[in-house]
Amino acid sequence: MESINDKSIKKMCSTYEDEEERKHFQRIVSAFKHYKPHSLQRIRKTENYLNSLPSHHQQLLVNYREHLQQVRMCIEHNAEIIKLITRGAPCIFENVSPPNDQNESTLNPRPILADQEKVQATIKQLVRDWSIQGIDERKTCYQPIIDEIIRQFPSEHCTSSEINILVPGAGLGRLAYEIAKRGYRCQGNEFSLFMLFASHFVLNKCREVNSFKIYPWVHQYMNNLCSSHQTQDVFFPDVNPSDLPEDAQFSMTAGDFLEVYNENEHWNCIATCFFIDCANNIVQFIETIYKILKPGGLWINLGPLLYHFSDMPGEDSIEPSYEVIRQVIKGFGFIIEKEQTQVRTRYAQNINSMLQCEYNSVYFVCKKPNRLTAIDITNELDTNGVHEQNFLQMKDNMS
Ligand SMILES: C[S@@+](CC[C@H](N)C(=O)[O-])C[C@H]1O[C@@H](n2cnc3c(N)ncnc32)[C@H](O)[C@@H]1O
Repeated sequence: MESINDKSIKKMCSTYEDEEERKHFQRIVSAFKHYKPHSLQRIRKTENYLNSLPSHHQQLLVNYREHLQQVRMCIEHNAEIIKLITRGAPCIFENVSPPNDQNESTLNPRPILADQEKVQATIKQLVRDWSIQGIDERKTCYQPIIDEIIRQFPSEHCTSSEINILVPGAGLGRLAYEIAKRGYRCQGNEFSLFMLFASHFVLNKCREVNSFKIYPWVHQYMNNLCSSHQTQDVFFPDVNPSDLPEDAQFSMTAGDFLEVYNENEHWNCIATCFFIDCANNIVQFIETIYKILKPGGLWINLGPLLYHFSDMPGEDSIEPSYEVIRQVIKGFGFIIEKEQTQVRTRYAQNINSMLQCEYNSVYFVCKKPNRLTAIDITNELDTNGVHEQNFLQMKDNMS
């Protein structure tokens, strides 16, 4: 595994020789490139309507017109940051040669609306993961996970660098980075190229605290108490991402969690934050987590059950309640060690907005049972007689 100072995203699935993959890559680059014209078109539409209003209305809206000018400038600035992010995109994977240069004519002629929303979401994710304004979200979402890791794998009792921790659905990588910073061997995994382009930029190109500025709320035309809230700037990164201990072991992989991770019993710990509801079949996620954890390994989870594929055209989805998910977790053999519901959490939230969204998330810590040794079996039989569940498990482990 590579240190963060190396090019740190390893592509784990097919390569660009695969035509579909290449097209997908180009589509995402194209979405980033369409950011500016698409966003400016949105303002023009408002301005055109404004121009058509009765002149006494327009006079009353002079400040609003000026504000739209500000919005335009913010978008132009964001577009410059996006240029920096996409500039490095062809080379983000250390193990794959860049796709052929694309000229403008090979780009998608029209932006796909859903992709534009993802570009905007990526900008907001920079706030959550890499800005001072994201501190509260990180405290409620990432800190309980980090604290539990430190509690379960204290440096007095283990060599942190030998503890393998996986963060699937790593987003822009802050949680994985924080875990690696504490000495554990940590790998983030992510399949969205939107996220991967941006995390590559932050982790490999940003070398000074608060050296870049974005306007993350500029696309939020509604629920603004003050005009300035829409054009509020946010600086990033709030830390120097290269400030990791010399021997830190941190890497990111690109690819679908379900495809990339199939080595049984590899990980000491898997940390999922706002991730498990990203599956078509959440049971498959839980099954994979169980399979790839070492016996005695831990799964720490925090998040809601938003079920991203629910009611999405062309996508299958099941949406079991948490009550059912608990049964599934136990059904695979996990022991639930800690559990808390009603954990108030937010996700890339604009704190100034008149619209606030909060999740009553669930937090839990589960253990994959240790393999029982022959001595354990004897003790178990001596103390408890034949405990049916353990007995079955012992038979399983011995066969
Ligand atoms: C809701 S976001 C959470 C990101 C981050 N953990 C956080 O808390 O900010 C879920 C992330 O998981 C990624 N993701 C979803 N399904 C995935 C899969 N099968 N393999 C890898 N990443 C996936 C998405 O692209 C997205 O970045």
